[in-house]
Formats: sequence, C-alpha cells, structure tokens
Amino acid sequence: MEVKLAECAGFCFGVKRAIDTVYEQIGTGKAIFTYGPIVHNEEVVRELEELGVSVIETKDELLALKNDENTYPNGMAVVIRAHGVPEEIGQILEKKGIECIDATCPFVKRIHHVVREAYEQGKQIYVVGNPGHPEVEGICGWCENSAVVLETTEEARKIILNPDRQGIIVAQTTFNSNKFDNIIEIFRERSYNVSVVNTICNATEERQRAAKALAAEADVMIVIGGRHSSNTRKLYEICSSECATTYFIQTLEDLDMVLPTTVRLVGITAGASTPNKLIEEVQNYVRINF
Ligand code: F3S
Repeated sequence: MEVKLAECAGFCFGVKRAIDTVYEQIGTGKAIFTYGPIVHNEEVVRELEELGVSVIETKDELLALKNDENTYPNGMAVVIRAHGVPEEIGQILEKKGIECIDATCPFVKRIHHVVREAYEQGKQIYVVGNPGHPEVEGICGWCENSAVVLETTEEARKIILNPDRQGIIVAQTTFNSNKFDNIIEIFRERSYNVSVVNTICNATEERQRAAKALAAEADVMIVIGGRHSSNTRKLYEICSSECATTYFIQTLEDLDMVLPTTVRLVGITAGASTPNKLIEEVQNYVRINF
C-alpha cells in the first residue's frame, strides 16, 4: 500500500515564512512578540508560547507595551504576521523604539504598495474581501481607512460611483476568484473609470487542485485540519466528491480507520493552518500501521 501526500498541503508559503521568522528570533535573547497569533493553530501558538513568544492581541495592548530596559534587557521585537498590518502599527513600534520584524507575506505587501500609491494619486480604493478580516483591516490602514470594503455583488450594485474620480479595485488574497469576477463584472457594467488589480493568491486554489487530483486516484483520503477551518472543510468536500472513503481529522487521535486489504493508495492533504509536524505524524502512522 502506498501513502502519498498531496502537493501543496498545509501551510502556504507566506505563513510558513512568517513562522520561520519567529523561530529565527528565538534564542537571540530579545523578548519576542507576535502581533496577533502567527497562525490560526492553537498548537503552534502554544508551542511558541512555551518558547517564550507572547501574542499581542490588540492595538491597545500594543500601546500599553513598555519598552523597559529592566524588564527586557536584551531588547524587544514584534513580528508582524503574514496577513500584514495597517501602516500605523509600524509607526507605533517605531515611536516606542521597539524593533519591528515584518513577516507580511510579499503578496500582501504588494497590495499595501498598490493601495498606498493609488491613495496618493487621489483614487478611490475598493477592497473586495471580508471587512472583519485582519488582512483587509491591514490593507485599509495603507490608505487612511478611506477604502470601500465590499464582499457581495449586491453591495457592488449599491455603491455610488463618482464618474469623475478614478477608482482601483484590489482583493483580499484568499477571496474566491469566481465571486471576485462577478463583482468586477458589475463594476464594469457601471463604470469604466475603475481599474482592477487581481491580488488573489493562488495558494488556496493550488492546494484544492492538488487535493482533487490525489483524491481522484486514491482509495482512501485523509484530510487534516481544524473543524472550524473553512479551507479545510472545503478540502474535505472536494476530496469526498472524488473519493468515497474520505476521513476528516483534527489530530492523529481522531484517526479511526479500517482499511480493507484491497486498498492500494492512501492520500493525505491538510488545511492551510495545519503544521507540518502533524502532517508527518499522520503520514508515518499510516505507513507503519497499515
Ligand atoms: Fe499565503 Fe501569502 Fe497567499 S499568506 S495565501 S501565500 S498571500
């Protein structure tokens, strides 16, 4: 029996890079903080906490942070996670004399640049994405929160467009590309004065495509990820439609598998916040026990 891991399973490039950045800082002697949990995975955050990394949850907490030589004799550093932050956060850190280690994903950083430039040119910025998502909040913080955030075609229809003012549309990197296209279509029907920069990252689509391809040839599929993680649930749906025997597990303990002897190939994939360690654990367990 063969066990195969889907290409692009687990952390995307940006999240992996941010986590690696935090690990690189451990052992430098500095007090390390992350602005928000570095990834939506409690286990990873807990492991980092045990290594002395603290999470700053809110801007107020950041404002209250004291750069005190007695408490932090080797200095302090705040790591910015892959989602990015509003420009203001960097400014607060600078004022406090706290080192800012920017692990914003380069794809998100590109959006910040686009938005900042458009803002300086006086354009109206539209951000297609979830208004409560930290990435969107971060993007809005590069144009003094002047952007219009929208996520549905209904909202796109209701926007009052100024024909004399140029506009620019960007998207949250994880936004669904079909929904984005539909929203753009409405803008196009209504105005020609709006340019589009498609900033959707293909990491999610690639992960889904790879999971689908593997599920199509596997006899059994295992999807690893958080129960509440929407991208993991999506992977489960995709795999189940290709492979009738698909398991959804959060940890190795959830794996209660009975494999008939006819099984030739077990495929494994994982959601965007599933640590590599867990993927390897599951992979090894299946290899050894079946
Ligand atoms: Fe990940 Fe960066 Fe794309 S954080 S989803 S690689 S935009």
